[in-house]
Amino acid sequence: MDNNSALRDKIQSLKNKRKAVILAHNYQPGEIQDIADFVGDSLELSQQAAKTEADVIVFCGVHFMAETAFILSPQKTVLLPDTHAGCFMADMVTAEKLRVKKKELPGVPVVCYVNSSAEVKAESDICCTSSNAVKVVESLPQQEILFVPDQYLGQWVASQTGKKLHLWPGFCPTHARILPRHILELKQKYPQAKVVVHPECRPEVDALADAVISTGGMIRYAQQPQVRQMIVGTEMGIIHRLQKENPGKEFIPVCPQAVCVNMKLITLEKILWCMEDMRPSVSVPEEIRLRAQNAVERMLEVV
Ligand code: 13P
Ligand code: SF4
Repeated sequence: MDNNSALRDKIQSLKNKRKAVILAHNYQPGEIQDIADFVGDSLELSQQAAKTEADVIVFCGVHFMAETAFILSPQKTVLLPDTHAGCFMADMVTAEKLRVKKKELPGVPVVCYVNSSAEVKAESDICCTSSNAVKVVESLPQQEILFVPDQYLGQWVASQTGKKLHLWPGFCPTHARILPRHILELKQKYPQAKVVVHPECRPEVDALADAVISTGGMIRYAQQPQVRQMIVGTEMGIIHRLQKENPGKEFIPVCPQAVCVNMKLITLEKILWCMEDMRPSVSVPEEIRLRAQNAVERMLEVV
């Protein structure tokens, strides 16, 4: 019996004892995706968190994802196996700075990307994820919107909706590593391949893609029978699931350096320890949670 299989057995028995569900993001290391009850993108994970009947949610992802799970399910214990698993982009906007910007733009609604803190969500009118950002912005009657914190997702949404978006200067350092030349080189090498990229990529990268979609969107895109080869412009962790679910197909990462170090902080050992100790847990003060919940639930009504 290898070390991982002993760990997996212990996790499984503790999961039953605690009445826990393990949710994992598509960027998690393969061995974690393999033990999870559900693997998905940010929207799918928040929908799971909202409807699960488990007492404990073990969130294998980054802090804002666990926080969103708590915002939606405050009666549950939400465990994040490593508290250092943050999101560089989410840290690029604070509630204080957002309040200043809101004063400069009176009457302009705020749409916040889910990659943001609970405090920022509490200052926002509605939340969005990469899979529903266009729909969320279209659902608002206003033509002018303040969009935080991802400038590249914001630019993509503006191009799709024709609305005027005031962009916050945030970005994801992992996706910023993906450059047009990476895609152009691979297109030459694999002329039959479809190109999919995440909307956190630069607009010059989006312009070269067949589809600009969330990680969940990429999983569905790959299932189409006509897709045999796919050039994948996002974080490396998704390759595991794409390959596992489509064994006969070829998935070519655009940039093997596109790795989110925060996502990789989660390990099988840490999952076991957090279920043993029932910590670290994630929570949000009730006054902030209620206001953040409005923004997240408003989004869930749109999709
Ligand atoms: P998805 O919602 O598309 O999975 O994206 C989350 C994320 O953090 C991308 O960097
Ligand atoms: Fe945040 Fe980028 Fe990591 Fe996604 S890939 S969690 S946006 S740092």
